[in-house]
Amino acid sequence: MANFNTIISLNVSSAIDWLHQGECIGIPTETVYGLAANALNIKAVAKIFEIKARPKFDPLIIHSNSIEKVQEYVKEFPREAYKLSERFWPGPLTLLLPKNDKIPDLVTSGLPQVAVRVPNHPLSLELLSKIDFPLAAPSANPFGYISPTLPNHVFKQLQGKIPLILDGGKCSIGLESTIIGFENQSPVIYRLGGLAIEEIENTIGKVRIMPHSSSKPQSPGMLESHYAPQKPLYFNSLDYKKKFTPSEMGVIAFNELHPDFPEENQILLSPAGDLIEAATNLFATMRNLDESRVKAIFAYEFPNFQLGPAINDRLRRASVR
Ligand code: TXA
Ligand code: MG
Repeated sequence: MANFNTIISLNVSSAIDWLHQGECIGIPTETVYGLAANALNIKAVAKIFEIKARPKFDPLIIHSNSIEKVQEYVKEFPREAYKLSERFWPGPLTLLLPKNDKIPDLVTSGLPQVAVRVPNHPLSLELLSKIDFPLAAPSANPFGYISPTLPNHVFKQLQGKIPLILDGGKCSIGLESTIIGFENQSPVIYRLGGLAIEEIENTIGKVRIMPHSSSKPQSPGMLESHYAPQKPLYFNSLDYKKKFTPSEMGVIAFNELHPDFPEENQILLSPAGDLIEAATNLFATMRNLDESRVKAIFAYEFPNFQLGPAINDRLRRASVR
């Protein structure tokens, strides 16, 4: 693997140069930072898997800046999918659509569908508008670890492996996109994410949420253990008491302190009680606790509406069981 002097930069044309040379770069999106490469260049796509140590059975999402560009890579765009894309793109929604031959099989791990999305971040939209290929981009973290929501998160983990990280600041949503596919024309959510179910259902009516499975995941974001810190994380489980005292724990809570732990050990993701704000702070807080002096992490369950179910999903997958 090449050894780069990685820079964090605002220079979109330099980002484009690297992409034309077949390299991978870090890009900001509203959900999490992506590790991006030219989706039509198989060697460049292969580098993504190598840099992330990602298994080849885990397919990638492709990113473009418009519905029209996405249409160049799919065979069909079902009506309801189109409705969702018009309503929510650019935004934290990924659609699974039947791919055409332009998309290499490596991108989709040989699956007939490709995951597509138009991300909502000014720098990446500018970048995407200036290139004539889509970007394959998984989250810019080593496989299985917490997704990055700041340029420095990417830098710390991928330093030397990529030449450049586009500096788009803190991700405004902080949870990966919601993934929707269609089975016999009816919509199925495969991954809960930054777009709340309520919003989706307001647009296309009732959607099914695919029950989680670890044995044969439709989407490895559905793997039972994923998004995990190095320290053990206990999700609403008193099992921590078998190994740790309350003062050894770092605690993630929503908007109020709990009497079970010392105050100074607790981090409130949104003192104002806003689930969107809580989502924005979740991954950075998990990382901070992972790097801090605490021995383990405890997280309370979040309310089950709006972005709450997606937050709980990530905490559950990050947890020890
Ligand atoms: O918000 C996001 O979606 C971020 C930003 C960078 O766009 N990307 C992201 O990518 O979370 P990644 O690779 O970490 O997760 C993508 C998920 C994976 O679990 C993958 O298996 C699933 O999307 N996926 C991609 N293509 C698929 C396909 N053809 N069929 C089923 N699942 C697919
Ligand atoms: Mg990921």
